[in-house]
Amino acid sequence: MEFIFWEWVNLAARWLHIVAAVAWIGSSFYFMALDASLRQRPHLPQGVQGEAWQVHGGGFYNMVKYLVAPGQMPADLTWFKWEAYTTWLSGFFLLVVLYYRGADLLLIDQSVMALSQGQAIGLSVGLLAAGWIVYDLLCRSPLGRHNGALAGVGFVFLVAACWGTTHVFSPRGAMLQMGALIGTMMVANVFLLIIPNQRKAVATLLAGGTPDPSLGKAAKQRSMHNNYLTLPVVFLMAGNHYPLTYATRYNWVIFAVVLVVGAVIRHFFNTKHAGKPVPWWAWGVAAAGVLLAAWLSAQGSADGGPAASATPPAVTFAQAQEVVMNRCGMCHTAAPVWDGINAPPHGVILDNPGDILRHAADIRRQAALSSAMPPGNVTLITPAERAILAAWSASAADPHMASATLP
Ligand code: HEC
Repeated sequence: MEFIFWEWVNLAARWLHIVAAVAWIGSSFYFMALDASLRQRPHLPQGVQGEAWQVHGGGFYNMVKYLVAPGQMPADLTWFKWEAYTTWLSGFFLLVVLYYRGADLLLIDQSVMALSQGQAIGLSVGLLAAGWIVYDLLCRSPLGRHNGALAGVGFVFLVAACWGTTHVFSPRGAMLQMGALIGTMMVANVFLLIIPNQRKAVATLLAGGTPDPSLGKAAKQRSMHNNYLTLPVVFLMAGNHYPLTYATRYNWVIFAVVLVVGAVIRHFFNTKHAGKPVPWWAWGVAAAGVLLAAWLSAQGSADGGPAASATPPAVTFAQAQEVVMNRCGMCHTAAPVWDGINAPPHGVILDNPGDILRHAADIRRQAALSSAMPPGNVTLITPAERAILAAWSASAADPHMASATLP
């Protein structure tokens, strides 16, 4: 019963998290595009930055943006914030239910750093807070006045943080931690800067004063940061289901590449929406970045396993089977003997030759070319054993070869 309960808690939270994120990203992309498409026209009243005409769902919309605020406060004002808050709350809930509850398998790798569950959770929460504090200080420092320099320093800060995190948590925990860290920065931007600044502007206006334009400017800067960080965060969340992205030797370099790819793709759309010359080169950079990331992901597992292109040692199926039985079998069996695992994870059974062969591609992905499995390397598989799995699975993972490899 408890098993079913957690399955549904997991699914419901994930459902909410994805829907909230879609709503948040959707409104964020919409407003970036709207802002870029505003045009000044002669008939517009003073204090208006521009207008845009849009057609959607059978109606025409005339959007007008006031630079600081309209002369008179409208009676009802729609605030955009709950999309962001719900995304963070549901995401943090998932982090607790999956990564903190299951820290020994998903967050901790004793060979990376010997941590107790409490220490790992404390570090994870502390790093989320520290990430925001450093970023916020950077924005408020004199550097904050130069968008390009701030972006450069922010990039170096995030990549350094990622490199550091891979030396604290398991590879999977580290990359998810970075996704959560950037996501937290983005939501904190909304919660601690954008919305409070807007509230101050509204309050001043209601009191008959003129709001300080720097409030809106700072909010716009944070909103732009969020825009450029959106695609990398989505990559990190989805990439958490692709071991080659997170459990390979250069995972932190892949992270850096993804930051650049995500940013240039947003740059393409932001420039295009502004009606400026379209930077087609952005797609060349993005494609080169993805190819580079793919190449990096084939250079061996995070714990020193062989590169995909390494000359495979001659191995027999029996050798591969022995590794799988010794390092995987206790969890991936009908009645797992590992504490806390009540059923074969994801239905993957690896305790007999037929099933091992059927899962050759999965084994290659999870345990030969990456170190995603065993989780946190709890069964102490060695790089040499990964090399055996890599050599065997190189041919067995090819369906045309599979029958030839049957023992
Ligand atoms: C300590 C228990 C444990 C051991 C040992 C273990 N696994 Fe797993 N395995 C898991 C868990 C837990 C999951 C589910 C992870 C998740 O939720 O993403 C899993 C998932 C998988 C999956 C499915 C992944 C997916 O996304 O569909 C494969 C394939 C796999 N393991 C292969 C292996 C191989 C190969 C080994 C040995 C080298 C191994 N596992 C050792 C616990 C274990």
